[in-house]
Amino acid sequence: MVKVPGMKRYEQLAAEISAQIHAGVLRPGDRVPSVRKTSVARAISPGTVLQAYGLLEDRGEIHTRPRSGYYVSAHWHGLPEEPAISRPPKNTTTVNVSSLVFEVLDAAKSKNIVPLGSAFPSPLLFPMEKLARSLSTSMRRLDPWITVANLAPGSIELRRQIARNYLESGFAVPTAEVIVTSGALEALNLCLMAVTRPGDVVAIESPAFYASLQAIERMGLKAVEIPTDPREGVNLAALAAALDKHDIKACWFMTNFQNPLGSLMPDASKRALVELLTKHDVPLIEDDVYAELYFGSERPKPAKAFDRKGIVMHCSSFSKCLAPGYRVGWVAAGRYAQAVEQLKLSTTLSASVPAQVAIADYLKHGGYQHHLRTLRHALAVQQNSLLQAVATHFPKATRLTRPRGGYFVWVELPPKVDVLKLHRLALEQNISIAPGPMFSAQRKFHHCIRLNYGHPWSARMEGAVEKLGELVERKKG
Ligand SMILES: Cc1ncc(COP(=O)(O)O)c(C=O)c1O
Repeated sequence: MVKVPGMKRYEQLAAEISAQIHAGVLRPGDRVPSVRKTSVARAISPGTVLQAYGLLEDRGEIHTRPRSGYYVSAHWHGLPEEPAISRPPKNTTTVNVSSLVFEVLDAAKSKNIVPLGSAFPSPLLFPMEKLARSLSTSMRRLDPWITVANLAPGSIELRRQIARNYLESGFAVPTAEVIVTSGALEALNLCLMAVTRPGDVVAIESPAFYASLQAIERMGLKAVEIPTDPREGVNLAALAAALDKHDIKACWFMTNFQNPLGSLMPDASKRALVELLTKHDVPLIEDDVYAELYFGSERPKPAKAFDRKGIVMHCSSFSKCLAPGYRVGWVAAGRYAQAVEQLKLSTTLSASVPAQVAIADYLKHGGYQHHLRTLRHALAVQQNSLLQAVATHFPKATRLTRPRGGYFVWVELPPKVDVLKLHRLALEQNISIAPGPMFSAQRKFHHCIRLNYGHPWSARMEGAVEKLGELVERKKG
């Protein structure tokens, strides 16, 4: 095997096999040449081949069958087309979705419901026992004065670890900029409070994470929805036009594995986004809670990595990747750090000290990287199962995203399907879905749903997707 400069051997092998899959040489269900054969044929070690196959597996392109070897997944073949870019109205609008969001979330809470509409991954995918050990050790060692010293901006140890994580992603964020919050949701809300007044216009994606809609509704703001591509995120030409037309005071976007689409902005677009907003002096509230859940070879950079003027407020948390329920998040708030810190102090004082020190201890000693690898692998495999199930059981006119991370897919159903009715029918069968209108300021996307693959795949899940497919078939007119 001739070595390509700048690429590790296993990455090169993975790229070659991936190209064969994409070209249709290796088709879904085909057996990938065995580790032994490939190692002999290419004169590379079996370990390198295993590493390449592991990478392809993490991306969901191939999967193992016990005692049988590696097979091409249906991931990129035989799947429905992807949905087209959204086309929201160009005007600004007040928002009124909260009642719908509460109704849907409430209905999905019961453990007896198949959680395809859930916002959360299975809690069983997280190292709860190790976290409990970190909690107990760190609390026993705790200097009681820390409970006073750790008021906003939060535990210095944890903030240092967060700053170190940024460094590992290839850019520096001063620890002083990092404010620990009660989950990412508080960080996002504080940022919005810091840069807007009632009546201001905020740009959001179309579709958007419903909590951004609820925040806009609660604070008496107006939304302008920007067309968003299911693969590459916010459309920058449309955003530029909206910035010229409206007096936009802030943007609230997800550049990595957007909820609900799963889109991932390429680095060049992230850079261009930051340049555009810097030119207009508009802050970006960047919601990056899914960045660790990537299926590729490295964590995607946030837009924050390209920020030179401090306009990006980068919000994230440990809720989706490590410690659900601990409610520990943060914001690296750039030039708004002081304003956000004061808002944190004046609203909730500080994040929970035990939760902060427990997570700081786990990050040091708990095996975070190992846990993340296991979690990503589980999600990639589960995504493949869900995509295949939708492809098998839903009508032909269905369209489906193929996110490269996170745990949601966005499904566009035939136009006559009313997903609010579908939601009620599905609940009668003990299945939850997240209907499209909850992700839209103007309650659009009446024929779209978000499905969750954050739970281990099972016959029950497969049966639920089959049942949903039947309901859609009946309602498609
Ligand atoms: C896109 C997105 N942002 C933020 C949050 C909130 O994160 P946290 O639980 O850390 O507050 C969620 C949780 O559902 C989410 O899906």
